[in-house]
Amino acid sequence: MRNDRRPDDMTRITTSELADTFIEEQINMLREEIGDKKVLLALSGGVDSSVVAAMLIKAVGQQLFCVHVNHGLLRKGESEQVIEVFKNQMKANLIYIDATDRFLDKLAGVTDPEDKRKIIGGEFIEVFAEEARKLEGIEYLAQGTIWPDILESEKGIKAHHNAGGLPEDMDFKLVEPVKILFKDEVRFVGERLGLPANMVYRQPFPGPGLGVRCPGAITRDRLEAVRESDAILREEFTRNGLEGKVWQYFTVVPDFRSTGIKDGERSFEWCVIIRAVNTKDAMTAEVENIPFELMQHLVKRITDEVKGVNRVLYDFTPKPSATIEYE
Ligand code: XMP
Repeated sequence: MRNDRRPDDMTRITTSELADTFIEEQINMLREEIGDKKVLLALSGGVDSSVVAAMLIKAVGQQLFCVHVNHGLLRKGESEQVIEVFKNQMKANLIYIDATDRFLDKLAGVTDPEDKRKIIGGEFIEVFAEEARKLEGIEYLAQGTIWPDILESEKGIKAHHNAGGLPEDMDFKLVEPVKILFKDEVRFVGERLGLPANMVYRQPFPGPGLGVRCPGAITRDRLEAVRESDAILREEFTRNGLEGKVWQYFTVVPDFRSTGIKDGERSFEWCVIIRAVNTKDAMTAEVENIPFELMQHLVKRITDEVKGVNRVLYDFTPKPSATIEYE
């Protein structure tokens, strides 16, 4: 397919005209390439895969089969929302698979971040291959790979599950209609494709999901602490007008316990780390200045409501030297 790499002289997509031209070109290329064949798409519900879905629905309509895999590493309420938007509202072909046990069993005891990513990515491919066999006649696999994924994989900074690494026997051809775009361009294109603003401007969420926010070996109870604290953080950011203002915010629960006091008794529990950053293209990032009162409120809610947590920390580190995610 043409446009395999971002041309050095490509103008940043910042106007409706540029976005519309890109969309038109991509749709023509997709139609030409795919013809009457079937396409399978990993629809996580994040910005990238949602924009790819919208693009493919425009290009090939019902030839697109969206597969939403719940790998057990999604945020609270996320699968429900994907089903509501894509199946109920957009009437897309959507297959929902709850593969939680399968993923968590494979990840049990795995501590190395890159191994975790590879396992999650590998399982994803497996699940899609199984679905493709069931559907019959699937030739293409669509992916929401974006340009920074490719650059960072090439530089060896980290392996992105959606950039290469397909097993030898996989006979899917790839379609990656937003792979030469930066994140801000993907959002803009999504808007022009008619996706709702709350979907296009939603904060990004990594493919390996909460798995990279549960550093070290993932356990179900610590994962639950990540999920519940994340839900509280999102709720409070929405309530306090920070949703849409802060680019990405989430919680991390490291595999580390410290001493505290709860109900007058010694506790020995995890800490929740809050991360809230602003960036344009995720290549660099600055830390958000969260009002102190809100921070205090977050600490109270998280330590009161999240099981197994007695301490809350705030990460003040920009990218670089840190990356946005912890693994
Ligand atoms: P880092 O941690 O590299 O993250 O500073 C930059 C942005 O990319 C997201 N991210 C991922 N997205 N698959 C994805 O689709 C991944 O494996 C992945 N890793 C990180 C991260 O959330 C941030 O927005």
